[in-house]
Amino acid sequence: MNIRPRRNRKSHAMRALVEENQLQVKDLIAPLFVKEGSGPKEAIGSMPGQYRFSVNDLLDECGRLQELGVPCVSLFPALSEDKKDKTATESKNSEGLFPEAIRAVKEKYPELLVMTDVAMDPYSSDGHDGLVSEEGKILNDETLPILAEMALVQAQAGSDIIGPSDMMDGRVAFIREHLDDNGFSETSIMSYTAKYASGFYGPFREALDSAPKAGDKKTYQMNPANGDEAIREALLDEAEGADILMVKPGLPYLDVLLRLKQTTTLPLAVYNVSGEYAMIKAAAEKGWLDGEVAMLEMLLSFKRAGASMILTYFAKEAAQYLKKQ
Ligand code: PBG
Repeated sequence: MNIRPRRNRKSHAMRALVEENQLQVKDLIAPLFVKEGSGPKEAIGSMPGQYRFSVNDLLDECGRLQELGVPCVSLFPALSEDKKDKTATESKNSEGLFPEAIRAVKEKYPELLVMTDVAMDPYSSDGHDGLVSEEGKILNDETLPILAEMALVQAQAGSDIIGPSDMMDGRVAFIREHLDDNGFSETSIMSYTAKYASGFYGPFREALDSAPKAGDKKTYQMNPANGDEAIREALLDEAEGADILMVKPGLPYLDVLLRLKQTTTLPLAVYNVSGEYAMIKAAAEKGWLDGEVAMLEMLLSFKRAGASMILTYFAKEAAQYLKKQ
């Protein structure tokens, strides 16, 4: 035998020398939930270690993340039911919880990047990402102005990166134009490009109490059976002016990530969603697997598949681990 791949694995130093991919703290984006009022943080049952924070507690958490070197947080508002209606009126309120939280974070931590989610569901009494007609249809074109206005309110509050997660057609161009027309040409758009109608969003919907009241999201989120369609979405988002493309969820769609890597020159993000977090946490709690090893292996797999950045509820834990190294 003259070819022995094991020679490149013979010691820690040798393995390090030939290592192709690395997880770094600078790759991580921490999703965080903010709630109304000043009460203590509320634990999210299906996401051990994750909370709904008051604005003050959110600031503390952002401080800890920045200290660890995490460059970006992705914020989501948890609103009470009385703030929700069919047209997501609260999303336009520049004095509402979300803009207030964005302003507070940017004021205290100007260097920390703030990404904000654009979709109607946290504000919608229907629990859908778009406007719902009398007949229960999700109305695409009627939703676009609502999304664009929401994005503008977030940009005005200081959001660095707008993240449209709604999967309406044409929304990236629509939002881009509205931001530019209002003087926000420097605000970035990270498009949820290939967002699948997934069973892995359950814990997130618990966190925001945002599950659809009727029907499902299959007329706008992608069919898990499709890969070519992700390329179609990517080409569209690129042409519409997106700065970064995202694949979501992560683990079940590593092939999609790799295919987009081979298709676009735009940077790619992956969203390691709530259900993926819950799976590892639950198995680790039972002692069925080593949570830390599984977390690191999962996060590294996203880098290998082509992601430049990872939205993950493990951001803090992974950053703590990497700091110790
Ligand atoms: C909603 C949105 C969802 C997530 C991010 N933005 C849920 C959904 O589409 O129902 C899920 C994130 C996660 O599960 O961690 N627009």
